[in-house]
Amino acid sequence: MAVVDMHTHFLPKKWPDLAKRFGTPDWPWMRHTGPGKGMIMVGDKDFRPVYEACWNPQVRIEEMDRDSIDVQIMCATPVLFSYARPAQQAAECATIFNDLALEICSHDNNRLKALAQVPLQDIDLSCKEVSRAKANGHVGVQIGNHVGLKNLDDEGVVTFLQHCASEDIPVLVHPWDMLGGDRMPKYMLQWLVAMPAETQLSILSLIMSGAFERISKDLKICFAHGGGSYAFQIGRVDNAWRHRDIVREDCPNLPSSYSDRFYVDSAVFSEGSLQLLTDIMGEDRVMLGSDSPFPLGEQRVGTLVREHSTLSDAAKAKILGHNAKTFFNI
Ligand code: CO
Repeated sequence: MAVVDMHTHFLPKKWPDLAKRFGTPDWPWMRHTGPGKGMIMVGDKDFRPVYEACWNPQVRIEEMDRDSIDVQIMCATPVLFSYARPAQQAAECATIFNDLALEICSHDNNRLKALAQVPLQDIDLSCKEVSRAKANGHVGVQIGNHVGLKNLDDEGVVTFLQHCASEDIPVLVHPWDMLGGDRMPKYMLQWLVAMPAETQLSILSLIMSGAFERISKDLKICFAHGGGSYAFQIGRVDNAWRHRDIVREDCPNLPSSYSDRFYVDSAVFSEGSLQLLTDIMGEDRVMLGSDSPFPLGEQRVGTLVREHSTLSDAAKAKILGHNAKTFFNI
């Protein structure tokens, strides 16, 4: 059985100088700091240290072999989304990185696959780019979990999701641009506290607004990091739905009943959390996702699932590869 890691990130070794191209500051660029090492820069600020696996397909494959991973699905780093920029610039940015992703995959198209990015502030341009990307070989699309103040239940975003459903393009929702940043300047609290909340917010925005009632059941949508806070907090949400009319005004069914409308990855880093996640979502709706090659990812990909003491062998096989093969049509 093929093992698929469906949540990994890439950065090309180099890309055009976007600040120069668009004449506006603070675009991401890569500062190469030493052999095989780099720093993602946003303007003149350090954003994140990265290493060669981000851009060198040979190194990616070596790490996959080390961890017995057959297929890796990679997507851009959310700092590249550019949703707050003029739409045409974000569209050009998406095209650049989508094409560079396929260049990395071309090293071994059977083992390296990519998700596209789209300029989600403009729905027409997004639909156009995602269809172009699919035709070129992308196996799905990654979107940020919000566009400024718009959550996933925004009419435009729902239109985009419907487009993906109608063209059988799987969607990975990745949290980004985290809320409450001013109160979380240190210790990566934005990643540890706000990111899981962002993901729960985007799942609940689709459930509580009734958007899942309007969106085709053909939509394949997956949320990163085990769906953030969702699995642990869904009991609280159900309780609120039962006892407060303002909670259920747009949501006709018990919130937890919508858990069969989406998928999550397995990036939760503890046995108890993965067990709870599998109990809530069902073993058909959890897929191996590592968030590698970033420091907050699983360092030996697949270990949590493979060495889990209570999941059955059948559940592990689904999570390690079977579910992703169906989800991504690979
Ligand atoms: Co990630």
